[in-house]
Amino acid sequence: MMVVAQLMASLYTGQLDSNKHINTEIMKTIYKIVLIGLMLLITGAVIVSCSSTKDKYTAVTDVEDEFKIEKSGAQLWGETCNRCHLAPSPADYNDTDWETISLHMRVRANLTEKESNKILEFLKSAN
Ligand code: HEC
Repeated sequence: MMVVAQLMASLYTGQLDSNKHINTEIMKTIYKIVLIGLMLLITGAVIVSCSSTKDKYTAVTDVEDEFKIEKSGAQLWGETCNRCHLAPSPADYNDTDWETISLHMRVRANLTEKESNKILEFLKSAN
């Protein structure tokens, strides 16, 4: 321990030449080990701080998802498709037509892919 402490002290003060009995090769090796250790420590700290931020973020979105009440396809159809014209009845078109219309009206109504798919599923299931 004493030798290591002496080495560290001489490294810190820069008085390498005054410790003549200490082999400079050993000094260099120890210096390298200390440097590598520091680098590993910094890398570790960066990884830990990054991953913990991510954990916090996912935790928040998990809670938000838990309290978000999802609307059904029928609800979305009733709310969205009535805004600009009378909501067409599911029976008005066949499945293939609804798929085309969904793409068309998804853009018009500014729906997310999920919302649009839910409405499409409802329309197909009820015609
Ligand atoms: C932002 C306004 C708006 C919303 C919301 C909207 N539509 Fe439309 N829709 C239109 C307009 C305008 C037309 C006339 C065709 C055109 O110019 O695009 C149309 C036409 C249609 C037609 C006729 C066939 C066609 O593709 O042109 C169908 C069927 C239809 N809409 C279904 C729906 C359904 C189902 C929804 C709900 C997901 C919906 N629309 C929501 C504006 C809207």
